Amino acid sequence: MKYRGLTFGIPKEIMKSECRVAATPETAALLVDQGASVLVEDSAGQGSFFANHQYVDVGAEVVAGPEDLYGRADVVLKVKEPMFNDRVSQHEVDLMHEGQYLVCFLHPASPQNHDMIRRLAQSGVTSFTLDSMPRISRAQAMDALTSMSTVAGYKGLLMAANRLPKFMPMLGTAVGMIYPAQVLVIGAGVAGLQSMATAKRLGAVVTACDIRPDACEQIKSLGVKLLELPIDPHLAVGEGGYAKNLPPDELEKERQALSESVAQSDIVVLTALVPGRRAPILVTKEMVESMSPGSIVVDISIDQGGNCELAKAGDVIDHNGVIVDGTQNIPGTVPTHATSLFAKNVLNFVDFLVHDGHVSLDRSDQIVAETLVTHGGDILHEGTLEAIGE
Ligand code: NAI
Repeated sequence: MKYRGLTFGIPKEIMKSECRVAATPETAALLVDQGASVLVEDSAGQGSFFANHQYVDVGAEVVAGPEDLYGRADVVLKVKEPMFNDRVSQHEVDLMHEGQYLVCFLHPASPQNHDMIRRLAQSGVTSFTLDSMPRISRAQAMDALTSMSTVAGYKGLLMAANRLPKFMPMLGTAVGMIYPAQVLVIGAGVAGLQSMATAKRLGAVVTACDIRPDACEQIKSLGVKLLELPIDPHLAVGEGGYAKNLPPDELEKERQALSESVAQSDIVVLTALVPGRRAPILVTKEMVESMSPGSIVVDISIDQGGNCELAKAGDVIDHNGVIVDGTQNIPGTVPTHATSLFAKNVLNFVDFLVHDGHVSLDRSDQIVAETLVTHGGDILHEGTLEAIGE
């Protein structure tokens, strides 16, 4: 009975239009089976189409409000970082107590969260952030960032296809041939590769690029046309094989290399990210203006600042007939599968952390060291300390 004596709390998410939840009835059942008590806030699963009674059926308890849940839980499992709960006129951090554990996407380096992180530390909460999960094979089953990128890449492409005033595939009709849509995907990480695969399934002609040679190999292995960029791999690839922030003159070279393809594309999907940095601007206003009216730019990198100069976080704008889509939190728009993947990632992380009914903090383990944000009153997360200048 691995979780005997531990109480897990699953609050209802309070971020606007967040439909995900951190546990499904399936993952709640696995916790209960191993001796845990599981508290689920009333209607927490509703946005992902899980009813209260489905949690009760597997042995969880549905509680009326967040006060009761945060008051009783040893470990709180959430999707998004703690924020002000209008319903009870209290910040979620103020509902937490010393010695409590928190697992969620904390986005701790993001400036708007610094104060919240300081307060979490002061409250004596031990918090872990899923957005810092190391990209190592041992952590793959706990890697919610990868799961959510898969969802974002898939849905982002569908959002663009849905707005496109054209067919995606080639069609032969009685009145002539319809040519397939041209899709350009910039950035070939998890999200970009999923966008490419989805565009190919819909029958579009797909071109893609990345600055990392490994990612270029993956583009080719998907059968997608590679747009070669004139960027020196030494400038592009940093520690651990991740992309580096390019110097301004290299970024300018890249924009020039992209301009012709952008102008010829019906859909441009933007997914280029540099870990821990603002997303690079790769599509300028002039480049958007070179596209045909009716074309679409979907900027999946918007939560990290966006790759398109014109993209506005949370907005869809029309610039001379070209649509620039800056929809945020795309995974939240596919709640059933996003929740099912997220909940399994969280369960695997909990399984890794808990031994004999206790959360064990082996800080020499890379997974603990990189995801641990606050403990014992201190902020320990390197990226956060750097971002807040401590
Ligand atoms: P990401 O979301 O951080 O970035 C997306 C892509 O943007 C990257 O491929 C990056 O090279 C590219 N990019 C950055 N600057 C660019 C620019 N100026 N122009 C064009 N492209 C640019 O990437 P993600 O999805 O996190 O994947 C990074 C790597 O980590 C991949 O090689 C992936 O296979 C690996 N990975 C490993 C995992 C594991 O072993 N557990 C899990 C997930 C990913």
